[in-house]
Amino acid sequence: MKFIPYGKQYIINKDKRIVLKSLSNDLITTGPYVEKFEEVLKKYLKCKYAYVCSSGTAAIHLAMLSLNLKKNDVVIMPAVNFIAAYNAAKIMQLKIYLIDVDKYTGQITPNTVIECIRKNKIVNIKALVTMYNGGYPEYSKEFYDLKKKHNFSIIEDSCHALGAGYKYKDKFYKIGCCKHSDISTFSMHPLKTITSGEGGIITTNKKKIAENIKLFRNHGMKRNKSKHWKYDILKHGYNYRLSDINCALGLSQLSKINFFLKKRKKIYKKYSKELKNFDRNLIIPNYSKNINPSFHLFLINIQFNKLKRNKDHFLKFLKDKNILAQQHYIPIYKFSIYDKNKKNFFGSEAYFTNSISIPIFVKLNKKDQDKIVSAIKYYFKK
Ligand SMILES: Cc1ncc(COP(=O)(O)O)c(C=O)c1O
Repeated sequence: MKFIPYGKQYIINKDKRIVLKSLSNDLITTGPYVEKFEEVLKKYLKCKYAYVCSSGTAAIHLAMLSLNLKKNDVVIMPAVNFIAAYNAAKIMQLKIYLIDVDKYTGQITPNTVIECIRKNKIVNIKALVTMYNGGYPEYSKEFYDLKKKHNFSIIEDSCHALGAGYKYKDKFYKIGCCKHSDISTFSMHPLKTITSGEGGIITTNKKKIAENIKLFRNHGMKRNKSKHWKYDILKHGYNYRLSDINCALGLSQLSKINFFLKKRKKIYKKYSKELKNFDRNLIIPNYSKNINPSFHLFLINIQFNKLKRNKDHFLKFLKDKNILAQQHYIPIYKFSIYDKNKKNFFGSEAYFTNSISIPIFVKLNKKDQDKIVSAIKYYFKK
């Protein structure tokens, strides 16, 4: 029986050919495809420095390392996010405060950031991690204003938002250009906007940060330019490199990004049209008019308490119809590893209780999308 997943990669023969070609090069890692891909990414994202690495998680870890964050430095980050940023910060022994999110978008807002700082009486914040849940980049400029006020760095966990952007004063900024942040990080996991199999991207406009990223990505190693056999180790780093094989695929995928975004937008529009005013207990988050999303996820919010049902019931109902919807994400404070006060996350609780992401990916065809819409509508009639 064929399941409809919530996301899926789109790979065509052209992608396969370039991967095969990359295997014939003398260098299949740290070679020409890495260089080319980084060059193209820099142009596409309009930033000064763009580097690839082994995953979105590695990109976030590199971001924290490159800011020279140290034990007990304070970072604040969303209570609802994929676990990567939290784990990286914990491994670095940073002091973490979680920020509540909006109950519909699942994203932090300037108000929830301010509330987190106020409630926890935080005075010396080193970094704020932002996250554009589902690829809808809200409040980038407003977070930048808070950065200036509190003097912290901004790491954008923009793993959902490759290809997304926002308008500010009639100018359009792509996420990754780092105009209103210090570092942006992206994932190229198969379900993201583009894929390199596994892979990550990290961008910045700051030279010092860029130098650190390059060092930490490759064992902290600096090679002597004229004597290739000599090198020194300047930092305790990692192997977070991405191979040429992955970069060949990434490069080929990036050339199709506009097509991918267009397809996702079309799916988004159809869902919106079908589901927007269908039932008052089904809410589609409202986003600012100033953003250009990447449409990574399509979130719906169901007022389960009014229906006297719950999210598990709905997810199981869809699964029985071969539709694999998902939850993005379980709040971090719900995990066994979390050891602090779990109270006061009202937005995150409401988001977690009611929010589901339904399938959206380039290859999702009209027939399957109609099937998903019909199943959801039937759920409300039952
Ligand atoms: C928001 C977010 N952050 C970080 C990551 C980690 O990326 P990766 O899986 O490439 O390590 C993901 C990937 O699922 C993600 O969705």
